Amino acid sequence: MSNELKDKTYVLTGATSGIGLAAAQILAGQGALLIGVGRSAERCAQAESELQSAHPEARVEYCVADLSMQVQVRGLAAEIRAKLTAHRIDSLDGLINNAGMFTYRMAITQEGFETQWAVNHLAPFLLTHELLPLLQAGPAGRVVTVSSGSHYNTHLKWNDLQLRRGYNGLLAYKQTKLATVLFTAELNRRLGSHSSVRAFAADPGLVFTEMGFKGNPRLVRWIWDLRRRSGVTPQESARGVVYLATDPSIQKATQIYWKDSHPKAPNPYALDEKAARRLWDLAEQECGIEPGKYVSM
Ligand SMILES: NC(=O)c1ccc[n+]([C@@H]2O[C@H](COP(=O)([O-])OP(=O)(O)OC[C@H]3O[C@@H](n4cnc5c(N)ncnc54)[C@H](OP(=O)(O)O)[C@@H]3O)[C@@H](O)[C@H]2O)c1
Repeated sequence: MSNELKDKTYVLTGATSGIGLAAAQILAGQGALLIGVGRSAERCAQAESELQSAHPEARVEYCVADLSMQVQVRGLAAEIRAKLTAHRIDSLDGLINNAGMFTYRMAITQEGFETQWAVNHLAPFLLTHELLPLLQAGPAGRVVTVSSGSHYNTHLKWNDLQLRRGYNGLLAYKQTKLATVLFTAELNRRLGSHSSVRAFAADPGLVFTEMGFKGNPRLVRWIWDLRRRSGVTPQESARGVVYLATDPSIQKATQIYWKDSHPKAPNPYALDEKAARRLWDLAEQECGIEPGKYVSM
């Protein structure tokens, strides 16, 4: 275990499997205080014990929250604030919005949102808002949100963003990953160039994980099993994600979309300021955030 990140504190969602668990290994192994987030208490306990056995001195704590529910995202933020207070820590060095899902079937959350829209787009939007004051309280905060190469060659279907009038799971996924890049660009614009907080969207590449298996029918699982074989390991992919959250040299970088620790041009639509503003206003409404109150200076 190294001590490179011994004074740093990170929140990482989706820290129970795949890229998130691999990123947690790196952060914990470098001495950071890591607050991991997962949706199942059992999987959180298992991940925590894996990290502790790999790094006996690791400082790792898990919170359980189903990010498809905004009430749980808000509860999670409160729990994180309480944990930091207990550690006498008054700022956060990074938030990694990694949790994500792909579902082939239309499902609506109890709060009335299409599930991929809720987990992949609204949850990072809301959690970032909730934790922004802590990120702004430190000298160099990062918000890293995991996007995907699937955000290319797509657009937002403005008249039916949650695809209620004709569901296509892949299009729903692609839209959320495009929304992630639009969100990241707009967050940086709203924070301004003098802000101590910088946001980046991470493209993890194609990665050998279980993502396509979860809750999907046999045919989708079979396709994902074939597809993921061309992918890199979660460990390789996680390096690029952790780099965006931790490397001091990119604090002032203006590029928003990164793959394997290098900037990459996103889908040009992701840089459309009008679309980003429109999406932002909608997410504020959908998350019940008063207009103009997202970023506190
Ligand atoms: N794998 C790829 O090729 C690929 C490519 C591009 C982008 N990505 C993105 O990379 C990120 C990580 O995906 P992965 O491939 O590592 O998949 P994964 O192994 O399935 O990990 C996803 C993580 O998100 C958590 N999660 C899912 N739904 C949640 C919810 N409602 N509430 C809280 N946590 C939830 C999962 O919890 P459980 O452990 O309980 O399932 C898991 O920890 C996602 O944002 C994904 O879209 C992946």
